[in-house]
Amino acid sequence: MSYNDNFIKACRKEQVDTLPVWYMRQAGRYDPDYRKIKEKYSLLEICQQPELAAEVTMMPIKKLGVDAAILYSDIMNPVASLGIDFDIVKDVGPVIHTPVRTAQDVERLRPIDVEKDLSHIIQTIRILDKELEVPLISFAGAPFTIASYLIEGRPSKSYIRTKQLMYSEPAVWFALMDKLGDMVITYLRAHIAAGAKAVQVFDSWVGALSPADFEVYVLPTMKRIFQELSDLKEPKIYFPGVSSGELLPYLRGIQADVIGLDWRVPISIGRERVGDQYAVQGNLDPYILTAPMSVIEKQAKAIIDEGIQKPGYIFNLGHGLFPEASLEKLKELTTFIHTYSRSVLTQQAEKSGV
Ligand code: CP3
Repeated sequence: MSYNDNFIKACRKEQVDTLPVWYMRQAGRYDPDYRKIKEKYSLLEICQQPELAAEVTMMPIKKLGVDAAILYSDIMNPVASLGIDFDIVKDVGPVIHTPVRTAQDVERLRPIDVEKDLSHIIQTIRILDKELEVPLISFAGAPFTIASYLIEGRPSKSYIRTKQLMYSEPAVWFALMDKLGDMVITYLRAHIAAGAKAVQVFDSWVGALSPADFEVYVLPTMKRIFQELSDLKEPKIYFPGVSSGELLPYLRGIQADVIGLDWRVPISIGRERVGDQYAVQGNLDPYILTAPMSVIEKQAKAIIDEGIQKPGYIFNLGHGLFPEASLEKLKELTTFIHTYSRSVLTQQAEKSGV
C-alpha cells in the first residue's frame, strides 16, 4: 500500500478524491485487543514502552481503515516533566497528588525537559514514523484544560477552583498559562522533529468559559502557541472541546490550519464562525454510535453533505470514543464515509469538468 496523505491534503484545504476520517480516542477501550493489553499494563506503563505504545497506536489503522493515526499517549504525560505527580485512575481520569493552587506552586513548575523525561514518547513517534502508511497526529493538552486538572486535582464538572484562581489571582493564572504554553510549544516542536506529521491541541474543557472570559484569560496564550509553531509546515489543529460553539468567532486569526467542532454546531455554521481560512474537523455526536447502523449512516451523511461543500473538511466525532462503542459499527461507518464521499467527490469533479 502506498502512503495515504488525504488527511494532510484536507488540512491544507487541497482537493481529495475521498474524505479523510479518524476518530478522537480511536485507540482505546472499545477494542477487545486493547482491553487485553490493559489487563497487563496501565496507560502510563504502555506509554513507557515505545514498541507497545506504537503497536496500540497502529491497532485502529489496521482494524478501522482510518486515514490518520493519533499517538497513544495522554494529555497529562508531559506534566510529569514540570515536576507534577499524577495517576490516571480507572473510570475517573487524571488525579494530581499535590494540586497547583498558589503563586509558589506555579513558581515551582520546571520547564519541560523532553530529552531527559519524555524520551519514551519521542522514541514511539520515531518508530511510528517508520511504520505508518498514514500520517501520525501527535497532540498536547491546551493550557486551560491542563490547568483545570492541575488546579482541581481531578476531573471536575464546575471548574470551581480553576475559575476561582483565574478571577481572584489573575497574575498567578497568567503565570500558569505562560508556563503551560511554553510546555505545549516545546513538546510539540519535539514531536514534529521526531516525525509527527500534524499536531492537535486538545482544549477539551475550555467551553466552560464565557466567550468574554475565553478572550481575556485563554485566547492570548492560544494565539502565542500557534504563532510560535507557525514556522513549521506540518498542519496544526485546535480543538476547543465540547460546548465551544460560542467561542468559535474568537478563534479568527489564530495561526492554526484546522479547527475541531463539537456536535452542537453544524459544520456550515462552524465554518462561518471561524472563517474560510480554516479547514474544519468533526463532528458526529459520539453517542450516536449506540444507534442502529441506519441512523448512524443517516447522521454521518448529513454531516458529510455539509462538510464536502468546500475543500478542507475532515470527518471525525465531536468528542472522543467511549468504551461501549462497537468496533464493527466503527468499521462500517469508516467504509460508509469513504464510499459515499468518493461518489460525491467524483460527481463534483465531473460537474466542474476536471
Ligand atoms: O485518541 C487516542 O486514541 C489517543 C490517545 C489519547 C488518550 N488520551 C488515551 C487515554 C488521547 C488523545 C487522550 C487525550 C486526553 N486525555 C484528553 C483530550 C481528549 C478528550 O477526550 O477531551 C483528555 C481530557 C484526557 C484526560 C483523560 N485521560 C481522561 C478524562 C481520561 C478518562 C478516564 C476514564 O477512565 O474514562 C483519561 C484516560 C485515558 N487516556 C484513556 C485512554 C485510552 C482511558 C483509560 C485507559 O484506557 O487507561
